[in-house]
Amino acid sequence: MQRHPVNSTTTPLLEARGISKRFGSVQALFDVDLTLHAGEVLALVGDNGAGKSTLIKSISGNHPIDEGSFLFEGRPVTITDPKHSSDLGIEVVYQDLALCDNLTVTQNMFLGREETSSFGMLSESAMQRKAAETMRSLAVTTLGGVDLNVARLSGGQRQSVAVAKAVMWNSKAVILDEPTAALGVAQTRQVLDLVKRLAEQGLGVIVISHNLHDLFEIADRFLVLRLGQSIGTYRADQTTQQEIVEAITAGELSAVPGQDVSDREVVA
Ligand SMILES: Nc1ncnc2c1ncn2[C@@H]1O[C@H](COP(=O)(O)OP(=O)(O)O)[C@@H](O)[C@H]1O
Ligand SMILES: [Mg+2]
Repeated sequence: MQRHPVNSTTTPLLEARGISKRFGSVQALFDVDLTLHAGEVLALVGDNGAGKSTLIKSISGNHPIDEGSFLFEGRPVTITDPKHSSDLGIEVVYQDLALCDNLTVTQNMFLGREETSSFGMLSESAMQRKAAETMRSLAVTTLGGVDLNVARLSGGQRQSVAVAKAVMWNSKAVILDEPTAALGVAQTRQVLDLVKRLAEQGLGVIVISHNLHDLFEIADRFLVLRLGQSIGTYRADQTTQQEIVEAITAGELSAVPGQDVSDREVVA
């Protein structure tokens, strides 16, 4: 259900159609659609167990889907492993960030990419320049330097490094899972500004968060999941926190074949 379609004349960057995913007896996702445009921030919201992470992991190829299809820039694509999605230009920044404390900012940004990129043969100083350039382009100015160990950074700076790492590799879509959950007020501000800049630079950004107040500052649209189903999408400028909360907690579900959704236990 697309209540408030936006940019309906332009080809979406990413479309997920009719995504269903079951884990044993749990229908984690049922017939979910998602549309992401270049240059927009899409907030993905829902209670614990609503299916947010499963949807993200479907898009990132970590959870092969049971049913449904994906289009990227209008072309049908198969995403059955993480390499497929990163080859398309989709990057996910997970909550645990997967940064190595004992390595520098630069080393972290190149970690795991050495062989897959044209930067593979770069010297240490060329890598530092590339890392610093990326940070500058994202206006991440609070960082002491790209040769600092990540262990010495604040939570907000770590988040910035993880995001910069994700976007340094020609990515077109970035997905952030709870980017501000562990941050204080000032650092949350930094990360929210960074998310806005990513969209301004033309990336499509999906943000998962429980903080609706933060999301209303940065999101163009909301996609609400409840018990594995899409309740709908809402344009941020045409909805309210109250309407989103109602959709999250009491949005109308369609019937799931073979399952009585009222019996579903919500698992954190
Ligand atoms: N790997 C898994 N194995 C079994 N069940 C899972 C797995 N991942 C998620 N689930 C279940 O799928 C449902 C959706 O979970 P999840 O996508 O993590 O929700 P959210 O991220 O919105 O909190 C939950 O009922 C959860 O217990
Ligand atoms: Mg989750």
